[in-house]
Amino acid sequence: MASGGPLRGTATADRPAEETVLRVDGLSKTYRSRRGDRTANAGIDLEVRAGEILALLGPNGAGKTTLLRQIAGQLLPSAGRITIGGIDIVRHPIPAKEILSVIPQECEPKANLTVEEHVRYFALLKGADPAGIRPYVDALLTRTGLAAERNRLVRELSGGLRRRVLIAVALAAPNLRLLLLDEPTTGVDPEARRAVWQLVDALRAERIAVLLTTHYIEEAEYLADRVAVIDHGRIVAEGSVDAIRQRLDHAGRLEVRGLDHLTPAGRALLDELERRYPVGFRAGNTERLRVADPFSPAASADLARLAALGIVASLGPVSLEDAYLALVGNGRSEEGG
Ligand SMILES: Nc1ncnc2c1ncn2[C@@H]1O[C@H](COP(=O)(O)OP(=O)(O)OP(=O)(O)O)[C@@H](O)[C@H]1O
Ligand SMILES: [Mg+2]
Repeated sequence: MASGGPLRGTATADRPAEETVLRVDGLSKTYRSRRGDRTANAGIDLEVRAGEILALLGPNGAGKTTLLRQIAGQLLPSAGRITIGGIDIVRHPIPAKEILSVIPQECEPKANLTVEEHVRYFALLKGADPAGIRPYVDALLTRTGLAAERNRLVRELSGGLRRRVLIAVALAAPNLRLLLLDEPTTGVDPEARRAVWQLVDALRAERIAVLLTTHYIEEAEYLADRVAVIDHGRIVAEGSVDAIRQRLDHAGRLEVRGLDHLTPAGRALLDELERRYPVGFRAGNTERLRVADPFSPAASADLARLAALGIVASLGPVSLEDAYLALVGNGRSEEGG
């Protein structure tokens, strides 16, 4: 693609020199049914190192859950290889599952157990020492902000708290090296979401590798060392947040608000700007123009001209969201492709 498109060449990933915990090579998955085959993963290569957080972004139906379920040993790959701590999950699922935990996208702790019983049950299942189980579970409940809920029945908790129980259960694994989180904060309130971020962030210190999926770009910006964008079952971009942002052929954006109450002079100015800067995005009362260099005197002058007419506008560097939308923004929906 030449200069006309919003994307440019490939970016290289900057990886910390840590040992690889998760390695995915040439992974493909085709769901077969009488109504036809559907390829959900098509040749995926991925690596996550100890203490590293990789965020997987992609539209609905891109193949994120399919990928995570194969890594978790819940779904057999059609082709390719997955190792966790060097152990092949397909050939040796039992030892591999001892060092990984997964929080599925759709999963509710259903059992008729209290929060404490629930966490204890799974901790023992994952090899926690029965002799020291009390302080072990206490520490997990404190860490996940569930200490006050310990005697409540899980099925009576709110959705957000149930999600937190799932996180506590996932962490209740003494030999944990890889944590898979499929949309860990969907349906979680903003404050609790930040609590989850802090929890996941703290896993770095324990050198746990984290692979998470999210539709919240902010979540990836906050947490991820690296981002992989998946579309139609393929990784279409991979690297640090900055590396992904730099794949756009423009470094800045000029955001203009209040499109519905522009004066004639304001409309004329915006028409002029739209001739000079490509429109990246328009929705409701807002549009974003693509600016090659947001720190240039010319761009600042344009911002000042908008302000002089009382138009609310802002100028700044492109966001991960801008890059993401350019990478996958083909107006496709779940069953497209
Ligand atoms: N059990 C299944 N049988 C057949 N097709 C499936 C099955 N599970 C998923 N698919 C299809 O595989 C593709 C990828 O689905 P997947 O759930 O992995 O996407 P996703 O990226 O997790 O989407 P979302 O963001 O909506 O959670 C979709 O086209 C989906 O319809
Ligand atoms: Mg999914």
